[in-house]
Amino acid sequence: MKRVVSGIRPTGFLHLGNYFGALRNFIKMQEENECFFFIADYHSLTTHPTPTDLQSNVRNILIEYIAAGLDPEKATIYVQSDVPQVCELSLLLSMNVYIGELQRVASFKEKVRRQPDNVNAGLLTYPVLMAADILLHHADMVPVGKDQEQHLEMTRDFAQRFNHIYKHEYFKLPVAYNFGSELVKIPGLDGSTKMSKSDNENSCIYLSDTPEVIRKKVMKAVSDSGPTEPGQPKTQAVENLFQLMKAVSTPETVHYFEDQYQNCAIRYGDMKKQLAADMTAFVQPVYERILELRDKDDYIRKVAREGAERARESAAKTIKEVREIIGIKSF
Ligand code: TYM
Repeated sequence: MKRVVSGIRPTGFLHLGNYFGALRNFIKMQEENECFFFIADYHSLTTHPTPTDLQSNVRNILIEYIAAGLDPEKATIYVQSDVPQVCELSLLLSMNVYIGELQRVASFKEKVRRQPDNVNAGLLTYPVLMAADILLHHADMVPVGKDQEQHLEMTRDFAQRFNHIYKHEYFKLPVAYNFGSELVKIPGLDGSTKMSKSDNENSCIYLSDTPEVIRKKVMKAVSDSGPTEPGQPKTQAVENLFQLMKAVSTPETVHYFEDQYQNCAIRYGDMKKQLAADMTAFVQPVYERILELRDKDDYIRKVAREGAERARESAAKTIKEVREIIGIKSF
């Protein structure tokens, strides 16, 4: 059985970008592989340093993982900080990681732009901790969106470097779990190329949004004044609407609106109504399970407790072996 490891930062509710990037097809994934899914609460401290909401955000993601289809009987679901061995692995890996390569990482540069007053060391070493998350359980595959591709590439570099330096083919080189297609980047409703809660709340459709909220957000989505000649290239905002439609609607629906666009007959209001209806139908079953799970506090705690135990067992074995390979021995 192959091992799958993936994580999500608890910085709010899950949106459709998270779903298509990391969570889709859980059922098949967990039947065929040994899965470890965790909530990256240490990572979230790099951008969300205050304790307010951390606990409830972690709980929300636990609930949303299960609501999206992850089965705690089959997969290990845990909270990153319940498995502190990851910090030791991150520290040990960091000894062979160079500051220059961390400074060149796209996500680091973006965070420096976004939060110039808080360029903390955690942001810089973010990819090392992420590599530790993945290597701790010897992942073969990592389900992620396109935005995490560079981090995954660095994980392979760090693993390979470790194997080379210590002359031991110890770590595997994990690849992206791509659900049988290209890695995806789901765009936002505000014309941005990535659905992201840090940009604009209204650009995201959350798995926990009500039908009314979805309708309002989609109807307000950015479009343009419409094509004036056949074959006219789409603006980014309109391209986004089509991409979102491809994610949640049937190919016939996409085809219909594509034709309308090409013939300059498109009415964005109609397209948005259809998109809102298809998004609602898509999100509805997950949303209903989220509502059910919100009241099941004992169950949620049990999932996190048992997941942590399993993850710690796997982590302890790795740390013991890594210490031996490096030559750390107690007297
Ligand atoms: P995070 O919390 O930003 O996002 C969680 C997952 O959702 C995907 N994603 C998207 N995919 C497609 N389109 C989008 N608009 C979109 N927005 C988010 C992300 O690619 C990700 O798969 N660094 C990670 C968390 C992490 C992790 C790990 C992941 C920590 N350690 C180990 C995998 C393995 C992150 O910030 O994800």
